[in-house]
Amino acid sequence: MSCVPIKKRKKEAAVPSNLPASECLFPDVRLFLVERRMGSARRNFLTSLAQRKGFCVMSLYSDVVTHVVAEQNSHSDVLAWIEKHEGQCVPSVNVPHLLDVSWFTESMSSGRPVNVEPRHNLKVVLSAATEVRCSQMPTYACHRRTPLNHHNQTITNALEILARSAFFQESDVRYLGFTRAASTLKALPYKLQSVNQAKDLPWCGGHCMIVIQEILEHGMCREVEVIKNNEHYQTMELLTGIYGVGVRTAQRWFKEGIRNLSDLKTMECKLTAEQVSGLRHCKDLQQQVTLEEAERVGQLVKDTLQRFVPDVHITMTGGFRRGKEVGHDVDFLITHPNENALSGLLEDAVGWLETQGLLLYHHLKKRKPALRSASSSMDSHETCYAIVALPSSSSPWNTDIEVKKCNSEDAERIAHPESPNSLNSRTWKAVRVDLVVTPQAEHAYALLGWTGSKHFERELRRYSLREKKLSLNSHGLYDLEKSCFLPAQTEEEIFLHLGLQYLPPSDRNA
Ligand code: UTP
Ligand code: MG
Repeated sequence: MSCVPIKKRKKEAAVPSNLPASECLFPDVRLFLVERRMGSARRNFLTSLAQRKGFCVMSLYSDVVTHVVAEQNSHSDVLAWIEKHEGQCVPSVNVPHLLDVSWFTESMSSGRPVNVEPRHNLKVVLSAATEVRCSQMPTYACHRRTPLNHHNQTITNALEILARSAFFQESDVRYLGFTRAASTLKALPYKLQSVNQAKDLPWCGGHCMIVIQEILEHGMCREVEVIKNNEHYQTMELLTGIYGVGVRTAQRWFKEGIRNLSDLKTMECKLTAEQVSGLRHCKDLQQQVTLEEAERVGQLVKDTLQRFVPDVHITMTGGFRRGKEVGHDVDFLITHPNENALSGLLEDAVGWLETQGLLLYHHLKKRKPALRSASSSMDSHETCYAIVALPSSSSPWNTDIEVKKCNSEDAERIAHPESPNSLNSRTWKAVRVDLVVTPQAEHAYALLGWTGSKHFERELRRYSLREKKLSLNSHGLYDLEKSCFLPAQTEEEIFLHLGLQYLPPSDRNA
């Protein structure tokens, strides 16, 4: 992550030169020594020492640096200094390590980079405000800001692997426990330095505390490493990654002995139409959708819908609305002040995309008014779950011939699902798209519900019901005591109904 340089960078000649890559004994370790308080003479001396021992020392800070070493500086001192003097923002997640010179001296005397222990990390000087935020970390995720990039990625990744493992075993309680702990840490405004700092945080006790402690002390958690190598976990990840395959189905297939995608063919499993498409396009769908691709999908959706309703209103929701740069699909909400204009719109859009050869799969779900009840958490909006053939940025929109030609390649790919993907030779990519149609009166609720994250939504609904006796879903908010729906035109109004401070989408990455 680069910032606009505040100061012109120092000339290369003023600092020791980098050791040629060929002479680095530890290519995975790239040091940067912070001159602040160390002084240039000592920095030059330490640089020469490290280079003689075969360490790669970078003269300038950049994204390739893995270990930042400083003397008599706090964590925030170093971040501020690098930003000011090197014109770079240091990412707050995972790399680089921000280390005290003690790690450097131990590494020099060992003749190799020693493992990073918690005692090596630069001290985080907590401001009074931060201390308050730690001890008063709210229990509900909808009460706190959760940005996309946070400070405790290693720990939250580990907790989320444990959560997924519990999910694959259909253990809801354990799944929720690990998810809630991870979510709490995502909202923490600093990097955890000691297990003591975690002891007052909601949901972080018991099993989660052991995981946190192990990672803080050893940089990894043995239980998580074991899970990652576990055959059941790996197979469930693979099978549930296929569009249309849920945990139950994957579990059944695992019990039947299926371990990979070829097994699905050889064992002649009965597949739904959704799963056939999911499997046919799995190589594409396993790749994340980039923001640039999502924007092109948005343009395609807009061009298509506007053919039928020129002033239709379309909003990209889901992870991209929360600021994510990649996603597993692209979600859209579609509305219009005149509800009649929306009638039949999805059918028309689907028909047109099909004639253009741009639709690889779709499933239309009709609106079920009966489901719009006070207590239902079900989403009954009219929805189109689709896989579109997104033309590559360099090819024109109308790629009818190309797509049809490539569909025969897909037939080949069903027969040999593991064969190399022909993406490089194609001019399109299969992308999952959800189109959701809402009447204007429900639009704000649908927008809130489809923006996510999933955990944020779950927490918002739990909070509404438990604390406010209000039943929230993506159609509306129902007051259980007054037996009436509470209308809202905007998300801000919904937060007001719930007595919550408004959180923009970028703070809902719980
Ligand atoms: P997604 O599954 O698309 O998640 O659902 P996401 O946050 O966009 O993540 P990626 O980037 O695609 O992986 C988006 C939101 O829509 C809601 C979910 O609860 C989530 O908050 N949703 C999804 C529904 O309300 N109903 C559905 O049928 C599907
Ligand atoms: Mg999404």
